Amino acid sequence: MYTILITVGVITGIATVLAVLLTFADSYIADYGIKKITINKEKEFEIDGGSTLLSSLTSQSIFIPSACGGKGSCGYCKCKINSGGGPVLATELSYLSKDDLQNNVRLSCQVKVKEDMSIEIPAELFNVKMFSATVEKSTNVTDKIKQLRFKITSNDPASLDFKAGQYIQLLAPPYPGSPEEVYRAYSIASATKDEGYIELLIGYVEGGIVTTYVHQHLSNDDKVTFTGPYGDFYLQDTDAEVILVAVGTGMAPIRSILYELLAQKSERKISFFFGARTKSDLFLLDEMEMFERELPNFKFIPTLSRPEENDDWTGEVGRVTHAIEKRLEESDSPKEAYLCGSAPMIDSTVKVLVAKGIPEEKVYFDKFD
Ligand SMILES: Cc1cc2nc3c(=O)[nH]c(=O)nc-3n(C[C@H](O)[C@H](O)[C@H](O)COP(=O)(O)OP(=O)(O)OC[C@H]3O[C@@H](n4cnc5c(N)ncnc54)[C@H](O)[C@@H]3O)c2cc1C
Ligand code: FES
Repeated sequence: MYTILITVGVITGIATVLAVLLTFADSYIADYGIKKITINKEKEFEIDGGSTLLSSLTSQSIFIPSACGGKGSCGYCKCKINSGGGPVLATELSYLSKDDLQNNVRLSCQVKVKEDMSIEIPAELFNVKMFSATVEKSTNVTDKIKQLRFKITSNDPASLDFKAGQYIQLLAPPYPGSPEEVYRAYSIASATKDEGYIELLIGYVEGGIVTTYVHQHLSNDDKVTFTGPYGDFYLQDTDAEVILVAVGTGMAPIRSILYELLAQKSERKISFFFGARTKSDLFLLDEMEMFERELPNFKFIPTLSRPEENDDWTGEVGRVTHAIEKRLEESDSPKEAYLCGSAPMIDSTVKVLVAKGIPEEKVYFDKFD
């Protein structure tokens, strides 16, 4: 038994050393020379080969969404590589569908530029810019969620042009316990008309790199960097009835959408189902009252999954899906829904909304994990 354990240990040790040497050799010794990247058959640039496609594009101020910061664990950084991408890597497979594989879609954070490449990206990504900003105000809206207001300090551009519902990627610089720069996605919580500023709602995730930076290291007047805007989750220009559903920090893009509807003086019927555990997890209630006063057909429906005895809660109890099943009236009038929160919450809410007669293609969502 002892001999087997030693043998396994030795083999594992040798494999680890070889893997480290290969990574080192690939990063520091292999010289791929200058490589050309052609984008959408119209833009071309040259870079030093050997880096990932994602970081090569970033070096040219072309920002592809990368919610996991290039770790290969979000699937957001997909782009089409028509030539020069080499074989698909094992680390890409779990994020690539059959369709993706047939259409040369790859994870740009995993593919290294080792030869000239021809790629395709959505044209709107050319509008994504890098911004500098300072923290103007930071408020704890619950014991786990901060509302942060940033003043944009960069001049070109001096304002973020986005659609209500879209997100940015915030950069956490190295800090004690986190040696590398890391980007994470955060939905813009403020109004599109709030020029020169953006607001975010950021929840604390224990051990999380960027949320620890935000909750424990970021102070008023500190400088931050972010890129944006990203995403195809935004308020559609229709007259349909609007169903909004969020849990926790999923409130962020929904708040921006509500400010947009307010700016439009919308008379659309709007229901906002918001889920929290206890009364102390509810926040921005004054604003929700303001929206109810200012938007003639808006209703805020908070629901608590675990109200405490001293909450004296008389509102809805249970998950948001339960409140939707109970309160959403079925009718022939066109409806569209906007959902934000965890993947399980979104998956179960989509089912309930479809069962209520809302076409699946009219259910828009952003999964936060
Ligand atoms: C499009 C989009 C928009 C988003 N908008 C927001 C937003 O407005 N506000 C907001 O707070 N977050 C938002 N997120 C989530 C955010 O991008 C980060 O994933 C989250 O803040 C955790 O980052 P981190 O670096 O602190 O944790 P990481 O270092 O990435 O994770 C540390 C550990 O925590 C786990 N973990 C990660 N996220 C969660 C979670 N939410 N709950 C429980 N465990 C988790 C990871 O699996 C890992 O094991 C959004 C995500 C996406 C994709
Ligand atoms: S950046 Fe997340 S998978 Fe590539």
